[in-house]
Amino acid sequence: MVLKIRTYGDPVLRERCREVEKIDGRIKKLVSDMLETLKNVGGIGLSANQVGESKRLFVVDMSRLTLEEIPLVVINPRIIEKKGKQTSEEGCLSVPGIWADVTRPQKLKIKGIDLNEKEIEVEGQGILAKVFSHEMDHLDGLFFVDRLRSIDKRLLSKKLKLIANKKS
Ligand code: NI
Repeated sequence: MVLKIRTYGDPVLRERCREVEKIDGRIKKLVSDMLETLKNVGGIGLSANQVGESKRLFVVDMSRLTLEEIPLVVINPRIIEKKGKQTSEEGCLSVPGIWADVTRPQKLKIKGIDLNEKEIEVEGQGILAKVFSHEMDHLDGLFFVDRLRSIDKRLLSKKLKLIANKKS
């Protein structure tokens, strides 16, 4: 099922998401719906609160980055290693129409569990590190625009207000 993507201004996106305590049928259904939604909109990564569920999990469509067809699902992720810096243009499904340069780690290692409750460790470099960092921010209630210098954020404030006030 394709889910509705919440946008800037929706309070669920400002909450710190809660840990997933049990991987039950509801979580499995949520993950499968999130993957379907991601494919539908053609995005690379999606966090649970972007579809209205305040839970610490995100999915990445790896086929957009590598030849790997297997989607990546990380539940209760935490960063265990961070290295270097990269700056590149970024956007977000929850902040439509806005793109800006964001500085992120060049390399990021995260640990979490998969849908089988197995512990996983994944390392991202380049674009993947950027995606991990972006999705981790979502789980903490942050948007990429929060990482901009205040002057740049001020320039975008009108556009952000328009997104927040748009009733969908
Ligand atoms: Ni995003």
